[in-house]
Amino acid sequence: MMNQVLRKATLADAGQLLEWRNDDGTRNNSNSTGLVSLDAHLAWLTKSLADTGCRFYIMEVNKEAVGTIRDNLVQTEGCTKQYLSWTIAPVCRGKGYGTEMLHMFLKENKGCFYAEIKPFNQSSIKMVEQNQFVLLGKAGENLVYTRIVT
Ligand SMILES: CC(C)(COP(=O)(O)OP(=O)(O)OC[C@H]1O[C@@H](n2cnc3c(N)ncnc32)[C@H](O)[C@@H]1OP(=O)(O)O)[C@@H](O)C(=O)NCCC(=O)NCCS
Repeated sequence: MMNQVLRKATLADAGQLLEWRNDDGTRNNSNSTGLVSLDAHLAWLTKSLADTGCRFYIMEVNKEAVGTIRDNLVQTEGCTKQYLSWTIAPVCRGKGYGTEMLHMFLKENKGCFYAEIKPFNQSSIKMVEQNQFVLLGKAGENLVYTRIVT
């Protein structure tokens, strides 16, 4: 039987996270499409892990890391928004892990969640739709989806 868990990310995940971040498919779906250097990645990861407004997870299937999901808290005009980001390892895509990872994250965390998705990123669109997000509108070319979990 498959054992699927979400665990907190640590600095020991740095190499794996950088590999996924610099994958062509990941960069194509991101707002910043450039390659990230190891130094810049380590600085960003250290800061993110220390940030109390960032809940940063690794999904493991049978103890193997298959993906990552995190949120970033943004305060705007008295309103708190949590922007979500996710990546599944290139070799593990298309197996349902992304949809399940988001489902597990939403079971553990409450808040007003937002996801900005490129209109051609069909798998992410299906991921949010299958997790009861609704389309709010657009931010530039990105589609903005939201779901409130109480
Ligand atoms: C987006 C991503 C996390 C999806 O993870 P995944 O594990 O491959 O997704 P799933 O297997 O759960 O698939 C979700 C749905 O998309 C569909 N799907 C998967 N790949 C697809 C593709 N290339 N085109 C269209 N639909 C696709 C699946 O069939 C599934 O729909 P279904 O349940 O109706 O069959 C993964 O592709 C990824 O890491 N992409 C690069 C990073 C990225 O895009 N991050 C998000 C930025 S907003």
